[in-house]
Amino acid sequence: MNDRPDWISAPAGALRGEIIVPGDKSVTHRALMLGAIAEGATRIEGFLESADTRATENILRDMGVSVEAPNAGGRVVHGAGLRGLRAPNGELDCGNSGTAMRLLAGLLAGQSFDSVLFGDASLSVRPMRRVIEPLAAMGAAIDAQAGDCAPLRIRGGKVLRGIDCHSPVASAQVKSAVLLAGLYAEGTTQVIEPQPTRDHTERMLAAFGWPVGFERGIARLTGGHVLRATGIVVPADFSSAAFFVVAATLVPGSELCLRGVGVNPRRTGLLHVLRTMGADIVEENRRESGGERIADLIVRSASLRGIEVAVEHVADMIDEFPILFVAAACAQGTTMVRGAAELRVKESDRIAVMAAGLRTLGIAVEEAPDGAVIEGGVLRGGEVDAGGDHRCAMAFAVAGAVAKAPVRIRDCANVATSFPGFSELANGCGMQIVPG
Ligand code: S3P
Repeated sequence: MNDRPDWISAPAGALRGEIIVPGDKSVTHRALMLGAIAEGATRIEGFLESADTRATENILRDMGVSVEAPNAGGRVVHGAGLRGLRAPNGELDCGNSGTAMRLLAGLLAGQSFDSVLFGDASLSVRPMRRVIEPLAAMGAAIDAQAGDCAPLRIRGGKVLRGIDCHSPVASAQVKSAVLLAGLYAEGTTQVIEPQPTRDHTERMLAAFGWPVGFERGIARLTGGHVLRATGIVVPADFSSAAFFVVAATLVPGSELCLRGVGVNPRRTGLLHVLRTMGADIVEENRRESGGERIADLIVRSASLRGIEVAVEHVADMIDEFPILFVAAACAQGTTMVRGAAELRVKESDRIAVMAAGLRTLGIAVEEAPDGAVIEGGVLRGGEVDAGGDHRCAMAFAVAGAVAKAPVRIRDCANVATSFPGFSELANGCGMQIVPG
């Protein structure tokens, strides 16, 4: 069996209909983790059934947490309480998930037992110093491999102290790791970010009854409280919706409705950028659920023009650059991205992977260390490599929908880490993706 399957995405007809994309990955990870250390049973609806979130679920089970799955998209997490996790029998497998590894590093730093977190080849070369350093400043003992990479060996039984963390990187994973360790620390833990990042951890801690102060770019909490189980309704993942938002924008004659999408402003930088480029995206039926904003998105096709992406939007669209690159490739004129060096240390080097693929498809892309300059043009068919990166694979699938001829995409297996069922949903509204 080929465990690195290829896809062929062929030019699509207009995208039409109403779709619901799967649950938010970030929110699902956090619901599992907070549910696991809460008092009582947390019911999760809209749980993302993906490889990444199952990695977190299995790790929590390995530490004695009972998680029931009454139906697909449903979980009941029987909280063990703040001090109720048990030493796991073996090492803990985070798979491809940076969120699992970095957030759990914070959670495990406060436990009484030792643990080891490991991951797949991609996760094993991603930077972990960014969490090890602040956690060590709190009193944690974490050993990494040379180069500060996984596996992470975390020694338990350490007394943690609250810190003032001025993180040099804008990273919700770093902020969340420090806040989770802060639950176990003496005194107050504060994180100050260079750019505000997604605040799902802060919002969910508040929903579980833990006092937490947060505003743009700052989050603060004090140890010594209790998390009380609650119901969590996970919104549809904006980062998954983004592929359809761009596909419907680019394929002429499209009109697509995406229901119940999470539109937390710390996630929707792409909407600002696409609208500035000329996109026609309407948010309807705005509502709030569990402290998170949601809305239905109505997208009609439109022609785009290239822009200079404002650096202030980068953190709010950090997962959307692969698909933005495709939008830029189809826009009239030049699009410039700067201040996005983090893209080089995601599940792949997303600047390099997208630049190489788009060049193969006939687009001029100039790479910079922290971004790229993309000349809009006409996408032709060809063969590209997703580099084992779920978001690059889906972005190239959208490129195939708009290209003049089919695009063959190598190494698409990891789409299941965030969006199982992507190709079926895409084909259901007009795209043409088949196994290659
Ligand atoms: C995430 C934060 C972001 C994002 C990732 C999920 C989270 O990573 O890229 O997909 O759930 O906190 P960084 O914090 O490394 O930017």
